[in-house]
Amino acid sequence: MADENATYQKTASGQPLALEQRDAEADGRRFSPSIGRNKDIVRDTLLKLLPSKASVLEIASGTGEHGAHMIASTNHVDWTYSDIDPDSMNSQAAWASYADSNQLRGPVLIDTTDPHWGDVERCATFNAVFCANMIHIAPFEAAIGLFKGASRILKSDDQLILYGPFARNGDIAPSNQRFREDLQRRDPNWGVRDLEIDIVPVAQRNGFILDQVIEMPANNLTVRFLNS
Ligand SMILES: C[S@@+](CC[C@H](N)C(=O)[O-])C[C@H]1O[C@@H](n2cnc3c(N)ncnc32)[C@H](O)[C@@H]1O
Repeated sequence: MADENATYQKTASGQPLALEQRDAEADGRRFSPSIGRNKDIVRDTLLKLLPSKASVLEIASGTGEHGAHMIASTNHVDWTYSDIDPDSMNSQAAWASYADSNQLRGPVLIDTTDPHWGDVERCATFNAVFCANMIHIAPFEAAIGLFKGASRILKSDDQLILYGPFARNGDIAPSNQRFREDLQRRDPNWGVRDLEIDIVPVAQRNGFILDQVIEMPANNLTVRFLNS
């Protein structure tokens, strides 16, 4: 049988990392078609939410395009990449070297499920954590670890911002329902999460309050939590 994920970037264990074909430049920068479509609106939305001087730790940076796009637009945001996947980290490093800016740092190796995130917990002064499109394409423990780690790093009133597809209180858009079924067929531990049912309780257990939900194109949301 043909491997339906044959052209997708994969982890060492053969799991697809992202359910799309990604092109790469000779210098190692990868390009995600979905980020090509959403990077402007994600950047503009983040700029409305972030503090005027923001230091962002991005979790699961993937190709690295969001950070590179952000720092090309403003001097007021510093951005640090992270991921668990070596190929993705290579792309992030290539974007950082292409940008050649002290606003763009990393990548650092962070697996959200680790009980300690290493140096970023010891010496960094982040006031925001941003994570796009990870919590549905990883076991739920990755989402739990994201909130736990963010609570160790952030101070009171700092923010954790998620971007991606969600269900809302049991309601789900048809396209997200199809996506949920597709994800669960690939791995039963994956799946589009319900913001109120799955995510808010985890956020609250870790001291985060749901602050803003912003509708984005293609049935995605940007969701801001504030650390209490
Ligand atoms: C679908 S990609 C999203 C990448 C990028 N944020 C975007 O929006 O295109 C999922 C990313 O989650 C990362 N990831 C999966 N499990 C993780 C974990 N436990 N901790 C940190 N990153 C993880 C993968 O390596 C991959 O880069």
